[in-house]
Amino acid sequence: MVYAKVAGGVLFLLLLACFEAIPLPPAAIANDVRPHGKRVYPPAPPPPPSTEECTRAQKVEILCECEGYIKIHNTIRYPTNNSLCCNAVRNVPNLDIFCIYDLLTSREKNMYHPRRFKYGLRNFCSL
Ligand SMILES: *[C@@H]1O[C@H](CO)[C@@H](O)[C@H](O)[C@H]1NC(C)=O
Repeated sequence: MVYAKVAGGVLFLLLLACFEAIPLPPAAIANDVRPHGKRVYPPAPPPPPSTEECTRAQKVEILCECEGYIKIHNTIRYPTNNSLCCNAVRNVPNLDIFCIYDLLTSREKNMYHPRRFKYGLRNFCSL
């Protein structure tokens, strides 16, 4: 019963994630002004932004659009070359799906099929 509730919660979160794929504007992320109006400086300068890095938003989109193929314990739905799933895969800089896989949390890694994720997507999306 508890397990069912937890699984329901996870599913709910995933569904939510599917509808929250719109990235926040940079201002919402890089907000360095506290409510009191005091500027807070970070202790160390941030590393220089890497030009081509995959993002969490791209990960969420792939988990969302490619779920039918990469999720474990699911009837397999193979992505077609011109599907939303493949479009999401092609949006990844340098088509680096390994970069996306590295963004998965350990819980997510347990939910998705590693070989289909890292190699299958590339094949079905004709990359
Ligand atoms: C797959 O789709 C991409 C983008 O639409 C296209 O460039 C590519 O030629 C297609 N590949 C095949 C094998 O249809």
